[in-house]
Order: sequence, then structure tokens, then C-alpha cells
Amino acid sequence: MTAQQIRRTFLDFFISKQHKIVPSAPIVNKDDPTLMFTNAGMNQFKDYFLGTQTPDVRRIADTQKCLRVSGKHNDLEEVGRDGTHHTMFEMLGNWSFGDYFKKEAIAWSWELLTEVYKLPKDRLYATVFEGSPAEGVPADDEAKGYWSEVLPLNHIINGNKKDNFWEMGDTGPCGPCTEIHIDLRPDSERALIPGEQLVNKDNPRVIEIWNNVFIQFNRKADGSLEELPDKHVDTGMGFERLTLAIQGKFNTYDTDIFTPLIEFVEQASGIKYNGQYPDSPTSIVNLSSSVKSDIAMRVVADHIRAVSFTIADGQLPGNSGAGYVIRRILRRAVRYYYSFLNIKEPFLHRLVPMLADMFADVFPELKAQQEQVAKIIQGEEKAFLNTLENGLRRFAAIKVKDGVIAGDDAFEF
Ligand code: SER
Repeated sequence: MTAQQIRRTFLDFFISKQHKIVPSAPIVNKDDPTLMFTNAGMNQFKDYFLGTQTPDVRRIADTQKCLRVSGKHNDLEEVGRDGTHHTMFEMLGNWSFGDYFKKEAIAWSWELLTEVYKLPKDRLYATVFEGSPAEGVPADDEAKGYWSEVLPLNHIINGNKKDNFWEMGDTGPCGPCTEIHIDLRPDSERALIPGEQLVNKDNPRVIEIWNNVFIQFNRKADGSLEELPDKHVDTGMGFERLTLAIQGKFNTYDTDIFTPLIEFVEQASGIKYNGQYPDSPTSIVNLSSSVKSDIAMRVVADHIRAVSFTIADGQLPGNSGAGYVIRRILRRAVRYYYSFLNIKEPFLHRLVPMLADMFADVFPELKAQQEQVAKIIQGEEKAFLNTLENGLRRFAAIKVKDGVIAGDDAFEF
């Protein structure tokens, strides 16, 4: 299946379960002072969960543009260094607003993954909330019961508050969750260490793909949990990770979501992409030039998505707030291509037309504004490349004695 078919199949599956498909909310969150960017599919439905608004329909599904680069959920520094984290990613989600609950949500996740996408059952694991006496929330035996109808007990793992109690931010709707993980290691490795020992242990081949949250509470500003009048379902599946699993890859950058972008960067830089990753958390300057250029290509392929879609959704790069976050992401991409791909001219903006075409069906807002978006990015790149070059010239002129820069130089105004 191509990535496009995988996305379409998700939406069609939930249409067959009487869900209405809605468009993604903008990636920039202008209406909620507790959140700068949309960080989960459920954000646009917050008021339905809290009961302050009533939805027209009680079952919804969509694919949501999300950004996790600030606040409670922040993955920025991982991006480029591993094969599963992104700034912007798509979250496939289905929601029940006071309608179906744990039984149906779990049964449908299983049906979609194993019968429609045909992911191997023996490689799937589910985690369930072990409970928190301090919060007065019991273990989720109900979810465990439903999972035990389809999974052997050693594939169902208890998880703590960090992994199995999902919260949108410091305040807001929240509740226990059950995550679905997949073990993508070769059989020889699986025979040595069973997958259940590696779930939620940062193994790059044993990864979470889907989170089913059972929204039952509102976290209040004083830290207490308030029970909600209705019980809701909020699920989020990482589209890029699902595609990786279905396409039999190990890294999202090897799926057709990213390969066209990486090929474009290869051609423009004249450098080959080798698909290498650093094997330790060492600083990028200590890595070989081929790992550096691989990281840089992933950073560029990732960051152009975050920057383009955010601008298309109305947030210009700027000096404060959300605008500054976007400017920092854009500048991070420039630093990487300038330093590790030997590209010295504005370049990111050249990827915008390809990106707009790739997403024309699902997020048409970029195609509709592709020229303005490219122009804004180009302007930012030009200004930052000037700053970067001036800065590097000044650094080159500074005398470093025994690894020390004199205070007069370091603090010069
Ligand atoms: N809100 C949950 C998450 O973001 C599930 O959609 O993981």
C-alpha cells in the first residue's frame, strides 16, 4: 500500500463504522491559550470532551496535522537523529463523544490493524494503565479484559502514569490509555529477547503506533482531577509510523512519505543519502561526514513540512511566541543544509511545490498558497544565511588561545 492508500483506508474503515470525516484543524492553535500548536488530534474537540459544547455527531475520524516542538510534548532534538520522530506528523484519529467506549475502540483497532492492514498479530502488544492510588484512578482492568480476548496475556503490559495516562497539557481532558506497539525486529532477535521486555524501552524497532485514550477526567489548574459527565474515546495513530510498519521499513524516512523529498535534496546537494543513523547520543560534530549529511537530509525533509504547513495555516515566522518557534525550526534546517550539505543558497523554499503536490488531496491549503509560502520561506532563508555568514566570519576572526575565547571577544557589543 502507498502512504496515500494507507491514509484513505483508515478513513474508509471508520466511515464503515458510522464516523463522519472532518478536515484537520489548523496546526496553529489560536483559540486555546493553554496550547501554542495542535499537538494531538483531540485538540479541536476539547470542548466536546469537557461538555461545554455539543457535537453534531458523536463519531468523528480524521487525519490531523500535529506539531510537537514546544510545551509538554517536544520532540525537536530527536528529529533527524532517529527514524521515528518528527516535528510535524499526521495523527489518524477516531473519536467517540459520549458514544462507544473501550469495547468498540479496542475491537476496531484490532480489526483495522490485523484484518485490514494485515499486520502480524504475534508482533503486536498492548499496554494498559496500572492505576494510580495517589490520583484515585484504578487499574484499567476493563481494557485488559477486552485485550485478553485477542492477545495472549504476555502481550498485554501494565504501564504507569507516564505512559498510560494521557494528558493534553497541564490542564484539560485526560484519562487512562491503552497503547498498541509493534515489534519489527527480525525473528532471530525476537527469539533471544521477547518483545514484551522492550515495549516502551526506546528500542527503535519496538515502537508505539496507536494510542487509545479513554477520556474520563478534566485536569484542573490546581492539579486535581474532575470526573467528566460523559465518557469519551480519543485515539491517535502516528500515520508515518503506521506506514513504516505496513511498508516493511524500519524508518519513516524510508517510506514514500519522505523519499521524494530526500531524493530532491540528494539531487540538489550532489550528496548521496545512505540512511545512516548515529549509534550514540554524541554531538553531531563528532560524527562521520556521511552520517552528518544523512541527518541533515532528514532534518530538511522533516522541517520543511512543519514550516510550510504552519505558514499555510496563518502563522508567519517572527520574534516571539509561535512565530519564533517556526523561525527556529526553519533556521535549524538552514544550519543543517549550510553546514552538512554544503548548500550555501536559499534552498528549503524549492521543496514547497513538491510538498504541496504530495498533500494536494488531504491538506489542500498548502497547494492553494504555495507561491506565498515559498516566498516567505525564501525571504527567511536569505536573511538568516546573511546572519550566519557574518557570524561565521566574525568567529573566524576571533583569536582562540588554548581553547579559550577572551572575555572581551565573547561579550563584545
Ligand atoms: N490524544 C492521544 C495522543 O495524542 C490520542 O489521540 O496520543
